[in-house]
Amino acid sequence: MPRLHSEGAGGVGARGAEGTAEPARRAFMAILLGGGLTTLLGSMLYSVGRYVIPPEAPDALSWKVVAAKANDFPPNSGKIFRFGNRPAILIRTAAGDFRAFSAVCTHLGCTVQYRPDLERIWCACHNGQFDIFGRNIAGPPPRPLEAFAVAVQGDDIVVSRKA
Ligand code: FES
Repeated sequence: MPRLHSEGAGGVGARGAEGTAEPARRAFMAILLGGGLTTLLGSMLYSVGRYVIPPEAPDALSWKVVAAKANDFPPNSGKIFRFGNRPAILIRTAAGDFRAFSAVCTHLGCTVQYRPDLERIWCACHNGQFDIFGRNIAGPPPRPLEAFAVAVQGDDIVVSRKA
């Protein structure tokens, strides 16, 4: 009489091996999932920690930076630089004078830029315009740009808050 089920290589011996492999596979999956959950929890706690305890910001009253090198700054040009945690703009007028202002437009806060063709500071968001003294002269900006003190020390152009 023919046998319907063979108990050869895939028979009892193989089932016995599956019986011992299954707990090992479950343990491996548990370690894998546990590690993933630990990593996820760690990254969430890190993010919350950085929000609750933010990195130290420079003191607003002690801001003083070297914004550019005088020899690399031609007349009738401008440059955006970081001043504390905000952008600022340094311009060199066509006459060669250096001036620095906050680069945050007083309308809705876009970053302004220098337009050599107009010899003005210009805001691309709504065509706001400021003269080389930072005064609002066209478009929607309601106030002048905040002005900063500029000192040329050797080749360094040093910008600081006005006292
Ligand atoms: S944000 Fe600068 S003109 Fe509106």
